[in-house]
Amino acid sequence: MNKMTVRDIEVADKRVLVRVDFNVPVDVATGAITDDSRIRAALPTIKYLIERNARVILISHLGRPKGKIVNELRLAPVAQRLSQILGQQVGVAVNCIGPEVEKSVAALRGGDVLLLENLRFHSDEETGSAEFARALARLGDVFVNDAFGTSHRAHASIAGIAQYLPAVAGLLLEKEINTLGGLLERPTPPFISVFGGAKVSDKVGMLNNIMSKVNCLLIGGGMAATFLKARSCEVGESLVEEESVGVAAKLMKEAERSGVRIILPVDVIVADEIDNDARGEVVSVEKIHKNKRIVDIGPETVEKFRIGLMGASTIFWNGPMGIEEIPQFAKGTKSIASFIAEHGATTIIGGGSTAEIIYSMGLADKITFISTGGGASLKFLGGEELPGVVLLKDKQSVIR
Ligand code: 3PG
Repeated sequence: MNKMTVRDIEVADKRVLVRVDFNVPVDVATGAITDDSRIRAALPTIKYLIERNARVILISHLGRPKGKIVNELRLAPVAQRLSQILGQQVGVAVNCIGPEVEKSVAALRGGDVLLLENLRFHSDEETGSAEFARALARLGDVFVNDAFGTSHRAHASIAGIAQYLPAVAGLLLEKEINTLGGLLERPTPPFISVFGGAKVSDKVGMLNNIMSKVNCLLIGGGMAATFLKARSCEVGESLVEEESVGVAAKLMKEAERSGVRIILPVDVIVADEIDNDARGEVVSVEKIHKNKRIVDIGPETVEKFRIGLMGASTIFWNGPMGIEEIPQFAKGTKSIASFIAEHGATTIIGGGSTAEIIYSMGLADKITFISTGGGASLKFLGGEELPGVVLLKDKQSVIR
């Protein structure tokens, strides 16, 4: 990565304002954090700063409160979890800007950590207000962006602060960019990508960009229906993005032209309804009844995908193979997850629900890298510049 990182600047005794992505899943009934992997992913930067006696001010969003104070989306439970993991007290501020917060920041000593309240309680965060960015910038001497998962948003705390403070990358952001960037620049062949999830439209940029780097694409999940339709299969009531059928056809043509193999499901699980009591049946993709919808890949497809992945040296996986929230339709996703984890290739997982599946199955330590970015990793792999990265200081810059 050609950007300065926290390692390139003097941080001792400085007020270091760090944008993290602590947008963690929270159980609505109990308020408990159900997956703290995003908090853990930010630890290298936080520990680096503590060890160097910086005064650490963390800022994050949680959920989508849309400019309102929502008690369930307060960051106190996150501060509590971070305190437990760090083994040191992490303070929580009452707000993220204003005189009260400035007082709390002024009271910090070297090595202290303070987490400010949810940025998205202010609508100015998402509109990218310059005034809000300036109010945040007043709290620090330098700015560190370590929120890779939110770096595709041109929000005040992501792109705005960098206009007012020297801005560098955190260690997580650096790792994300280097690892995902490595996939685009020098993947060890054979490079095989597995794509799933509902929408083709979310992934068109990435599919187009990755096409010239991969040797084979395996397509499952809801998006397979759009590809099957483009091959003139009847897909019944399955979710199809009509406007993406042409795109899928074009991608398949392009793949053929450039010698990239695309493997689509040969059998699928179909059901009438999508609910916890729904029962699925296995059918060939040639025989999907017009009243049924695809809910998972079938056993023959799992085997085909497994054989397809067998020779891979590099695997990138993004998106579940079916409606994995419903246990009886999660088999395809789980089989692919287990196979990828046991395979021994360089394995990289796109963030979002794919990452959650890997963590929930206890497979994380068998994976080379799990991105913390859902939307951000899609955009980055689609070749887009991320607002949270472009404004950071270039490596050769001088910070005064
Ligand atoms: C994410 O979870 O992908 C990031 O935290 C960004 O959240 P957002 O999609 O609500 O902007």
